[in-house]
Parts: sequence; structure tokens; C-alpha cells
Amino acid sequence: MTINFHQIKHYIKHCLTAKWGGHGVHSPFAFQLCEEVFYNHNSFYDFEELQKIRKQLLNDKTEVTVEDFGAGSKTFTTNKRKIKDLAAKGTSTAKQSETLYKLINFLNCNTIIELGTSVGLNTLYLAKANKNGKVITIEGSKNLVKYARELAKKNDVSNIEFIEAKFDDALPTLLRNNSLSLLYIDGNHTYEATMRYFNLALAKKDNSSVIVFDDIYWSPGMTKAWDEIKNNVSVTMSIDLFYFGMIFFKEEVKEKVDLKLFL
Ligand SMILES: C[S@@+](CC[C@H](N)C(=O)[O-])C[C@H]1O[C@@H](n2cnc3c(N)ncnc32)[C@H](O)[C@@H]1O
Repeated sequence: MTINFHQIKHYIKHCLTAKWGGHGVHSPFAFQLCEEVFYNHNSFYDFEELQKIRKQLLNDKTEVTVEDFGAGSKTFTTNKRKIKDLAAKGTSTAKQSETLYKLINFLNCNTIIELGTSVGLNTLYLAKANKNGKVITIEGSKNLVKYARELAKKNDVSNIEFIEAKFDDALPTLLRNNSLSLLYIDGNHTYEATMRYFNLALAKKDNSSVIVFDDIYWSPGMTKAWDEIKNNVSVTMSIDLFYFGMIFFKEEVKEKVDLKLFL
């Protein structure tokens, strides 16, 4: 990933202001998340296998043509991509995917929606985190959907529904027909699109829903969206991990919590 000035500025700020190791976290729910998710260093059974799949993808020279549906790429200049490059630069890191896995596992999320499948590696983490749950992943690029579907099949993961569509076309119907345990927004990183997806999800959220936003410091527009989202009256807790921002709606969290954590 190419790093820009906006990211560097906010990263320095994050290092100076974020809590390390979850010390001084007062909310019981936030404290539990720190213990069980963010600073839980146990290696889960699935991680070793997922790491092997990551290594295979990092060596996969297959070339795919990918249409651009989102805010564009700061990394790629043509629409031809090698899987190994997408796995290296267009996919969640092991740390990010493992955090999502632990979150789903701890909260026992049943219906997980991912916006942006790419090669489908992170989707495998989401699916393996709760084998009784269902993952619905949306991707606009036909060739990536094909690749990700085959990857899941090859690895015997069957609790994923792949949808080839633009987010704006698929998300409203999806939210109408499904409950919302966890929504991971990882594509089309613009202020307008992020606010649109947030507002759609807001109408569907319940007490236990969680929404995770990737790359909240990718651009000034993304940071503006994150600031507005975490200040929305329905949000009772926000957690800023720098690379992810996540929000919760739990009514039992009576006093608004805004946490910045350093992982
Ligand atoms: C950063 S990648 C997703 C990475 C993946 N979630 C992971 O964690 O590894 C973003 C993906 O979203 C897709 N995308 C971006 N905007 C989209 C849109 N508006 N509709 C459909 N797909 C879109 C892109 O084609 C790209 O494959």
C-alpha cells in the first residue's frame, strides 16, 4: 500500500493518543473486547491453515483483469493484476483478518456482510470464525468473484455466498432480507459512499450489530466520514484501531465510549 501524508500525520497522532494494551479502559464491554479480541494473543486453530493459503496466494502469478468500481487505487496503475500482488497489497493483512476472526468468534456473529471480496482470503477468515454463521460477500469484479469462489471451494469452505454486483445495487436488498451481525466495509473508500453504506446499515442495525470500516485514515474524506459516524447518536461505542474503525450500538453502554487503541 502507498502511504500518503494524511495517513502519516494521523498515524503519529494515533501513536501519541491511543491506549496501549487496553490499560485504563473502564467500560466493561470494551474491557472484555480488549481481553478477548484485541489483546488476545492465542493462536486460533484456523490461523495456521489460513496463513498457508496466504502464502500460496503470495506466490500465485495468475493474472486477472479487474474493473475499478471504487475510489480508485493508490497502488495499481493498470487494470491487470497478478493474484500475488493483490494478496500483498489489496488484501487485509494477517493481523487485520485475525482481529476480525476473533471479533466474530467472540460476539458469535451469525450474518456477516463484507463489501469488497477481492481474492477472497479475508472472506475465508470471516467464514471460519463462525462455521455455523453465514458470510455474504459482494464484489463488482467478475474475475475476482470467480477466483474467490474457487478458492473457497478448494478449501472446503461452504458458508459463503458470493454476490457479483456493485455495492449500491446489492446492499439495500441484502439488508432488507438479512439480519445484521457484522458489516465489514472494505471498498469504495469515499466520504459519500461510506456515509451511504453507513446510513443503509443504520436502518437495519440492532443492539448487537457491529460495523467495521477499513482505512478510516486513507484520505481526508474517509476521516471526515469516520468522525461523523462515530458521533452519530445511535452509536454508543467507537473503537479506533487506526487501520479499522468499529462502532457498536449496545444500549447497555450508557455513557458514550470513544476508544483509540494501539495494537
Ligand atoms: C480492498 S479490496 C477488498 C479486500 C478484502 N475485503 C480483504 O479484506 O482482503 C476492495 C474490493 O472492493 C471492490 N469494490 C470497490 N468498490 C466497489 C463497488 N462500488 N461495488 C463493488 N465492488 C467494489 C474492488 O473491486 C476490490 O476488489
